[in-house]
Amino acid sequence: MNDSIMLKNICEQPNVVADCLAIELPLSDRVLSAQRIMLLACGSSRHAGLVAQHWFETIAKIPIQVLDAAAWTDRSPLVESNTLIIALSQSGKTKDLLEALTQIKAVTPEIQVLAIVNGSDSPLVHLADSAIVTPAGPEGAVAATKSFSAQLVILARIAVNLAEYKSLISPSIVPVSISKLRTDLKVLPQAIAKSLNNLQRHIGKGVGLDWMVSESIVLLGRGIQQPIALEGALKLKETAYVHAEGFGAGDFCHGPMAILKPGFPIIALMPDQKMRSDLDRFQALGCTVIGIGKRGHECLPGLDQVFELESIADWLMSFLIVLPLQLLAYDWARSRELNVDQPRYLTKFIG
Ligand code: M6R
Repeated sequence: MNDSIMLKNICEQPNVVADCLAIELPLSDRVLSAQRIMLLACGSSRHAGLVAQHWFETIAKIPIQVLDAAAWTDRSPLVESNTLIIALSQSGKTKDLLEALTQIKAVTPEIQVLAIVNGSDSPLVHLADSAIVTPAGPEGAVAATKSFSAQLVILARIAVNLAEYKSLISPSIVPVSISKLRTDLKVLPQAIAKSLNNLQRHIGKGVGLDWMVSESIVLLGRGIQQPIALEGALKLKETAYVHAEGFGAGDFCHGPMAILKPGFPIIALMPDQKMRSDLDRFQALGCTVIGIGKRGHECLPGLDQVFELESIADWLMSFLIVLPLQLLAYDWARSRELNVDQPRYLTKFIG
């Protein structure tokens, strides 16, 4: 039942990811030999950047900062000329990002800017030194879904290419098997398709679940899943207008958990043993805990509701974890009879 553009966009992700794995990446030696990376983006694009931060640090061993382009002009960040700027934007038209880049280029004209963008003829492409156009196709709904996955694939591939480039120069710096990483990536389209098929037996039908009577919800993630908690919360806010907040699972216990009360829904992303003991406490307080993780994972049984996903390499699980969050946002909005494709007050890009 693809009766909305958002649901159609969600279901296109297996093909989009396959297409993004197939394109050539025009990465010059200048890009590959960067000493550090500064990634600038807004909204969902920034969340994709925060996921990729883990890949650049752990796989390519390159220092990276992910910055909110909307806050750039309020600060005076120092940009060294050996830094690669990655400008990440679905539309390529986001004013905050364009302003930040214009300011950087004015101060440091020699800086290399690599744009990753879904709209090929956008101002961002003209401002950048090089560009990778994600073959996601037009994303008609305001909520970013397939463009988010497209950005993730391209960033994962860049991290692997940087690792490969570095390993040729000094093999001891990058102790990972490049061919293993590339093999991991190849299974993504099928794993996304299978996960979506299984999930759509239960969600993505436009019907609200019991706990969707709440006006608030918390999403908890640790490490690379923390930005997915932020992304899920953004999807729920902009489509269903619920007060959703994403937290690092550890940080949530340092104060925010005082908001909990019986019936409060909590979504736990890939809970490990440490998170699971907190979730047991939250269940004892009467909260409703929804777990998302790999099929058969030992920390899922006993939670109030569980969404299981295909089992792929851990470093790529964010591609799957985001899927039920997109579908739940769709369901919650539809159950409130909201226009999921065109939320109130919002436009597809903030120009
Ligand atoms: O086109 P961009 O990627 O630059 O847009 C950035 C944000 O405005 C955008 O991701 C926004 O947060 C989405 N509506 C989220 O779904």
